[in-house]
Amino acid sequence: MSRPMTTNLRYYAALGVAHEAADLALGYFQNRDKLDVSMKGAQDWLTVADGAVEALIRERLAELFPQDSILGEEMGGAYSDCLWVIDPIDGTANFAHGDPNWCVSIAFLRRGEPEIGIILAPALDQTFTARSGEGAFLNGSNIRVSAQSDLSKAAIECGWSARVPAGRYLSLIESGISAGASIKRMGSGALGICRVATGTSDGFVELHINCWDVGAAILIAREAGAACSDYFSGDAINDGNPVLCCAPPLASALGEVAGIDI
Ligand code: IPD
Repeated sequence: MSRPMTTNLRYYAALGVAHEAADLALGYFQNRDKLDVSMKGAQDWLTVADGAVEALIRERLAELFPQDSILGEEMGGAYSDCLWVIDPIDGTANFAHGDPNWCVSIAFLRRGEPEIGIILAPALDQTFTARSGEGAFLNGSNIRVSAQSDLSKAAIECGWSARVPAGRYLSLIESGISAGASIKRMGSGALGICRVATGTSDGFVELHINCWDVGAAILIAREAGAACSDYFSGDAINDGNPVLCCAPPLASALGEVAGIDI
């Protein structure tokens, strides 16, 4: 299949930048006893690594693609038709606790839709990649969602943040368990959705999540065959949205449990 040369250039450049960023982040992770850690809010962690990794990614992308815009978790940014969306460390609470479930996430969006998704989890030795229309890959091998059709056999991850009142999260968990699902939470929305893409989870739901957490992961899940809610509708880039990604046969039952249209 022929793809625009600009997509190829952006993809390979971003992959190189993501590897450099992941090496930097891993260095901080391995020396985290010396890491400056602060809180942006309740259970909302910030380490010096987040800022340093975002600064590196921004500097490289701005140098390579000066005409593109960049939006990042720590330093914000403005929207345009050619937009990089970056989360320097998704799963910062895990990172700060020494849990390897964290990742660097870089997405490229054209007119609000993801075209490139790259997620590196260096402490797990995992690289997830996708380009629109070309499938999804883990460490270079094709990945595929599960074919699970029965919620009473399904493993569903439910992401949580303090942005959503506890009661709404608890009723999501209660509905999921009542429908027979096994519920888990592993602390990185990006990797949670990648686990749907590999079939190690059958679904991922979060009642509100920001676009830097899921920009790359949703493309990876879609390209692996997952059913995904229309996350990028409305003003998701600025305000976030709910997200649901799952094995296609579970979509209607899980959508009903979560109260998310899919
Ligand atoms: C958070 C993680 C978490 C999700 C939250 C995110 P951060 O991102 O992805 O799993 O539930 O909604 O804010 O703060 O670690 O980049």
